Amino acid sequence: MSRPLLTVILAAGKGTRMRSALPKVLHRIAGRSMLGHVLALAEGVGGGKRAVVIGPGMDDVRAEVQSAASGAAVFVQENQLGTANAVLAARDAIASHTGDLLVLFADTPLITPETIGKLRAELDRGAQVAVLGFEAREPGSYGRLVTGADGALEAIREAKDASAAELQIRLCNSGVMAFRLDQPLAVLDKIGNANAKGEFYLTDAIEIVRAGGGRAGVVVCDEDEVLGVNARGELAQAEAIWQRRARQRVMAEGVTLIAPESVWLSFDTVLGQDVVIEPNVFFGLGVTVDAGAEIKANSYLEGARIGAGARVGPFARLRSGTVLGRDVRVGNFVEIKNSSLGEGAKANHLSYLGDGAVGAKANIGAGTIFCNYDGFFKHKTEIGDGAFVGSNSALVAPVKIGAGAYIGSGSVITKDVAADALALERSAQDERPGWAQKFRIVMARRKASLRK
Ligand code: UD1
Ligand code: CA
Repeated sequence: MSRPLLTVILAAGKGTRMRSALPKVLHRIAGRSMLGHVLALAEGVGGGKRAVVIGPGMDDVRAEVQSAASGAAVFVQENQLGTANAVLAARDAIASHTGDLLVLFADTPLITPETIGKLRAELDRGAQVAVLGFEAREPGSYGRLVTGADGALEAIREAKDASAAELQIRLCNSGVMAFRLDQPLAVLDKIGNANAKGEFYLTDAIEIVRAGGGRAGVVVCDEDEVLGVNARGELAQAEAIWQRRARQRVMAEGVTLIAPESVWLSFDTVLGQDVVIEPNVFFGLGVTVDAGAEIKANSYLEGARIGAGARVGPFARLRSGTVLGRDVRVGNFVEIKNSSLGEGAKANHLSYLGDGAVGAKANIGAGTIFCNYDGFFKHKTEIGDGAFVGSNSALVAPVKIGAGAYIGSGSVITKDVAADALALERSAQDERPGWAQKFRIVMARRKASLRK
């Protein structure tokens, strides 16, 4: 399989059934656009050249290609005249390429690299075109794979053009096709539009290749893998399939998921060996968890790096820019944003830590708030190694607490505190001996006199 590969990804469809202001292929699965998934697949199976065909005015789709795959070329299909016409929009890329040609749909995001490998292996075995097929539960409007007595693929018949007998066929076309042709354009240019829809069907390439003496092969995959997303229901289905696979993968890599079906991963989630994830944990984009860390139930994490052996949650919220060192403890109802906690530091209860840097082994008491925002600017809170911040303290940033310092509970700290000092900011306690007892007697008498 050393032949170079060009992948043409079709993304010109408007996707009206999504009923969305966003083009269909920009809708996300596991935090990455469907187009992003397909671009990554194309890269994964050959690294090679990628061309994306978009519709006129789809500037946001073009921008997504440029950010997700800067090397990929973008072509505009002016009118939606069918899948063959769409592939031909990338004529310049095809003309300048020698090697295999792979066609993928941007709205079919779940295909695996292994399956594309099988498709190319079919080309290795001498097929000029290989089609990815599947046994459809409901063949409906899919193109049917018409095979001969010897099992060879003879044609793909679109449902609207199929005979009653052909409509009985359950082996359907996924849309994915790979070509090994010296002159792919010669085949594509022969495709006409004399059919029920008046469209240029890429599927007609099968009969044209065969008429030229070539062989067409079929590779069959599971229907889930070729799920096409047209509406929100299918988007949710695709998400569910993706999540199921990802959970299996991380478990195979040595992660414990106590209730796998309740853990939601992103496409870029990285979990180290012996990480334990309790039920109902959501991983947004950009989370890395190092070996042996535990994420307890009902935690929501995004943009966070969690050190080895750390314990997070239950009910923790880690936001972007959170960096937790080794063996850090973050407990319930603690929100952390853009802050680092050094090795062994603890914030176990009910806190907000924003724009801070907490030293190793520091202890952040219950209810501590880093007051990082003055309504205009964000400021930094720095806490030295081994410092102890008493419960219910407000640290008004910018402020620095020296290493080993103590902050008395309930303090509002607005000035820097020196290392190993005690800072206390609250009024002196006033105590009146016997006051409560007298108060109760007076009040009880008053209540009794009113009842008379
Ligand atoms: C296509 C196949 C059908 C297959 C089905 C699988 C053809 C003729 N038919 O049918 O055999 O069973 O997919 O889902 O290929 N697109 C463009 N420009 C166009 C037309 C389509 O970019 O002019 C893109 C669409 O955005 C979409 C893909 O190509 O991503 C498939 O187009 P669609 O119209 O959905 O094809 P189907 O009729 O579903
Ligand atoms: Ca379709």
